[in-house]
Amino acid sequence: MTASQQPETEVANFRNVIEKQLFYGRGEVLEQYSKAWELRTGEAYVFDKFLPSGGRLLDVGCGTGRTCFLLAGRFQEIDAFDIVPEMIEVARKRNSELGTGIHFFVGDATQLSVASDQYDAVLFAYNGIEGILDKQSQIKVLSEVFRVLRPGGVFVFTTKSCFNSTYARHFYVPRLLARMGLGQHDGGTPLEVEVMQGSQKMRWHTTNPFSMKALLRKTGFELLYFNSEVRLGRGQTKPSLTANFHRWDQFYACRKPQ
Ligand SMILES: C[S@@+](CC[C@H](N)C(=O)[O-])C[C@H]1O[C@@H](n2cnc3c(N)ncnc32)[C@H](O)[C@@H]1O
Repeated sequence: MTASQQPETEVANFRNVIEKQLFYGRGEVLEQYSKAWELRTGEAYVFDKFLPSGGRLLDVGCGTGRTCFLLAGRFQEIDAFDIVPEMIEVARKRNSELGTGIHFFVGDATQLSVASDQYDAVLFAYNGIEGILDKQSQIKVLSEVFRVLRPGGVFVFTTKSCFNSTYARHFYVPRLLARMGLGQHDGGTPLEVEVMQGSQKMRWHTTNPFSMKALLRKTGFELLYFNSEVRLGRGQTKPSLTANFHRWDQFYACRKPQ
């Protein structure tokens, strides 16, 4: 990273922290996450198949702990963190009710305060990584995850694809029409699109799965598996190119080489 890119990355990261704290830390969203304790079909398949048993797990962007509580019996030790203190508060309360002994803390995925080669598995579940707003910060997260995994350790995460029909309606078609002089478009990117949901303006984040796979290779990871919730929901567990173009959840399992 050059010296001139550094402040931009810091601003983007600061914006990410504020956005996440405002979005996830209050009201309906916090309530929704406080009640979500189940795995999605694709998650159940990918976790079973690719997360090792025993050893140490780090759950990055754990929210209220939905995934790590369900994996608690499977690992000897779990550390879990999120950037939103209110979510960690909910997770800690449930942790003491269940006696699960998970170590929850508030932290930022772009700056892990953890020693190298520590974990057998790292998880960043349910569309957290694309919410980290700029590419340099995403690269930082991948490099940090790579660093804290032991050689042979596995990283499992989920993204939403930027190639989907909802985006065609909200982004690609308006952009094409604007280029033809038939309307206006704000010139945003499909990785971050503002849409109106009722009277509320929402910002959606997505990932280009081809760029993400290239970033993983650049970081040093071996991609073990890639599939979509749509395919896994239909029982289609074999990898397929079509998984790149399915709406919402896409699963990646990758490994730090031995
Ligand atoms: C869609 S939620 C998923 C929560 C949880 N992993 C789950 O599956 O239920 C994404 C989470 O990523 C967290 N997050 C986003 N950026 C982060 C960062 N830089 N460091 C740590 N957590 C972050 C958000 O606060 C949010 O809780």
